[in-house]
Amino acid sequence: MNTQLLLVFIFFTLSAVSCLKVILQLSAKTDLLRFSEKILISEYECIEIGNFKAIMGEFDTNFVKSLFFDESVEAISIDRQVQIANLHHQQSAPKHLVRLSQAGPIVKQQHLDFIYNGTGKDTRVFILDTGILSNHSDFTGRVQTFDPKNTTHCDVNGHGTAVASLVGSELFGVSKEVTLIDYPVLHDNGIGVISNVLSALDKIVKAGVPGVILMPFIGKKSVLFENALREVVTAGFPIVVPAGNFARDACKYSPSGAEHVITVGSINSYTDTIAKFSNYGPCVDLFCDGVDIVSLAPFNEMITVNSGTSMSAALVTGVVATLMGRSSMDILASLKSMAIRGGIRPMDFLVQSATDNLIASNIKFNETE
Ligand SMILES: *[C@@H]1O[C@H](CO)[C@@H](O)[C@H](O)[C@H]1NC(C)=O
Ligand SMILES: *[C@@H]1O[C@H](CO)[C@@H](O)[C@H](O)[C@H]1NC(C)=O
Ligand SMILES: *[C@@H]1O[C@H](CO)[C@@H](O)[C@H](O)[C@H]1NC(C)=O
Repeated sequence: MNTQLLLVFIFFTLSAVSCLKVILQLSAKTDLLRFSEKILISEYECIEIGNFKAIMGEFDTNFVKSLFFDESVEAISIDRQVQIANLHHQQSAPKHLVRLSQAGPIVKQQHLDFIYNGTGKDTRVFILDTGILSNHSDFTGRVQTFDPKNTTHCDVNGHGTAVASLVGSELFGVSKEVTLIDYPVLHDNGIGVISNVLSALDKIVKAGVPGVILMPFIGKKSVLFENALREVVTAGFPIVVPAGNFARDACKYSPSGAEHVITVGSINSYTDTIAKFSNYGPCVDLFCDGVDIVSLAPFNEMITVNSGTSMSAALVTGVVATLMGRSSMDILASLKSMAIRGGIRPMDFLVQSATDNLIASNIKFNETE
């Protein structure tokens, strides 16, 4: 047989048996059972909701065509995809973002899609750190100084720029339209004092424009400091802090041990295990990716890789920014209700007992299914 002819023949048979996933709505007076006798396939489903009667399945296109003039068929629709309104997609996203919007760990060769529900537009996030290199193009001009008279942005250390980019830079950030307010309280070496932090908090609360406060640092336990934080949170400013990187009980430090702040520990998102360095214990509210996190570097247009609970706290701050003003529940309760429960390997909890097994998530999973 001639090869060319053979190919034509194959094409013809394929098109003759081509199938289509469709939904057939039947007229109200059609008897579903009787109609289904016409159907020659075995796998289909009948639906009857009041007067709405339908048959769904993968039908031969010729059969579907034969129904165009069938009086018992009211409407025919191909089985279209539906998608939750307002959800955005970032393709080829960094894995720390991908992990926030999927239920399980990052696996090899998966699609790196970040799905998000809000962009934090009109929300302010105060970054109390070492400063921010604000002119990086990935911030798209959304970094402001708290003190309008001082427009100097610099970050010799890099910590402030890294966390700010995870909160809200365009490529690396969770909350892509948030306004980032740079309020440096730490010196270039990454060290500061509580009095500077209290002074910043006083000014922020007095200015009266609400926002989320990220304090990505840790120190010895201070009841006085924690007393002040309670009032800041009560005034309507959610505070997010790292659990700390000592692999110890986060309750023994401040601000991680403060009752009303949101304390974030680190997991490795490839294994969903608690990161070796991460603090733990009952003061940790939830966990988020914190190992090998790519972010902006404090030099022109450069990127860097860091690990630590500050990175995890920054990611959760981005989630909080998208929740501001949306939920009637309090922010911590919303975060916990969206989080993935029981996702961290249970054996990690044998040594780190009394720690909540929650992985931060930026969307409600039951609604995306
Ligand atoms: C950004 O600011 C830094 C420090 O002020 C400066 O050295 C650098 O040239 C600026 N980069 C751009 C692209 O403007
Ligand atoms: C302005 O802010 C920078 C940090 O961004 C700080 O180093 C500098 O001391 C501040 N200048 C004044 C006059 O407050
Ligand atoms: C998206 O946000 C809206 C409120 O703006 C909320 O009602 C809805 O539950 C969210 N959806 C998901 C999937 O998180």
